[in-house]
Amino acid sequence: MGADGKLFYNAPCMVFIAIKETSPKGAELIDLGIVAQNISLAASSLGIDNCHCGLVAFCFAGGKAEEFKRKLKFEDGYECGLSVLLGYGKNEGMPHTPDKSKITFIG
Ligand SMILES: Cc1cc2nc3c(=O)[nH]c(=O)nc-3n(C[C@H](O)[C@H](O)[C@H](O)COP(=O)(O)O)c2cc1C
Repeated sequence: MGADGKLFYNAPCMVFIAIKETSPKGAELIDLGIVAQNISLAASSLGIDNCHCGLVAFCFAGGKAEEFKRKLKFEDGYECGLSVLLGYGKNEGMPHTPDKSKITFIG
């Protein structure tokens, strides 16, 4: 899986996470992040590369939004919150070194 100019990195699998269509959003966004992160952690534990993909929003911003929601079997009152791309990366990434200057240790 690599970008090659493709929005979704040619990923063979894409998970769409639905979220309630409320406004303003509150705890739903925390739940959304937890779900996305759990998908990533589970995938990584299985050796599957993954990428949170907020740009999926473009698919639901146009005239095909309702068609996509129907095909993905979103319940009424739900919209796409985020997607996670799954596959095998072309390149090996290295974990980032945490910037400890941004962490406050107390005690
Ligand atoms: C909410 C959210 C949405 C994101 N959307 C995209 C996206 O649409 N496309 C993309 O390439 N990266 C997106 N990213 C960034 C990647 O998921 C990833 O965090 C970034 O590429 C850094 O990866 P690295 O830590 O392995 O370097 C998003 C990250 C978050 C947290």
